[in-house]
Amino acid sequence: MGRVTRIVWDFDDIDAAATPQAHLDYLEKTEAFPPLAAVREHTYAALPPGRGVDVGCGRGRAVADLTALGRPAVGVDRSDTMVRSARKRFPACEFTTGDAAALPFEDGSLDWYRAERTYLHIADPLRALAEARRVLRPGGTAVVADQDFDSTVMASPDPALTRTVVTALTDSMADGRAGTRMPALLAGAGFTDVTVHALALAFSSLPPVEPLLIEPAEAVAVAAGVVSEAEARAWRGGLERLDREGTFVVAMTMFVTTGRRP
Ligand SMILES: C[S@@+](CC[C@H](N)C(=O)[O-])C[C@H]1O[C@@H](n2cnc3c(N)ncnc32)[C@H](O)[C@@H]1O
Repeated sequence: MGRVTRIVWDFDDIDAAATPQAHLDYLEKTEAFPPLAAVREHTYAALPPGRGVDVGCGRGRAVADLTALGRPAVGVDRSDTMVRSARKRFPACEFTTGDAAALPFEDGSLDWYRAERTYLHIADPLRALAEARRVLRPGGTAVVADQDFDSTVMASPDPALTRTVVTALTDSMADGRAGTRMPALLAGAGFTDVTVHALALAFSSLPPVEPLLIEPAEAVAVAAGVVSEAEARAWRGGLERLDREGTFVVAMTMFVTTGRRP
């Protein structure tokens, strides 16, 4: 179980985690992934001019980028650890601690609302989206980007075992299918003109994704009791072999969904 105690997977309550620094390190690594930079660019292009909020802002990258692009942005995150880190990185930007379900803004006061990889960790998305609708002005835009972890595919000597592990990983999150659920959720929250754009996150070597995806997948599948320790080791060993042979591939799909507040 050594690996289980080291993994970073649960972003629901970072401040209560044994090692909040590990969550900061995790986000630092994912922020540097070129495919996620492309996702960020796509979300920025989908936002209208004016002032808005980045909900679940983490270490603050998107708020800093948007501010530099001339779009006044406030970052909100439930975690004090994240807000402190964002303020330290980008002292000229505005960050505040707060929950997606209770945002510190007046009704109809914002032009846009953005959230990236946040709804994966929100158990009651309709409540948070009702709050998004409340703070947006009529005609304001919500842009929400999340994976559907069920879309994870990889070359594997044991595809059936891989599916079992991927399902366990998806089910371990508050909403591991947030990416594909978001169009219906936005429509259900009363947003109109819903659009969805899919972007692939693909990797052809194991090291960048090992601590961020493969180790957590292995650990949660064992913890959920759907694979034994021996099966998990064999699964991981198969991926390591593919990597040594230069044939490793893993990909998942990120969905950028937009909606307009009527
Ligand atoms: C995986 S991180 C993504 C951070 C950032 N959006 C990024 O793309 O790098 C998820 C973030 O959402 C925050 N979060 C989770 N649930 C939240 C909630 N209910 N309200 C506000 N923030 C939340 C976490 O504290 C964490 O910083």
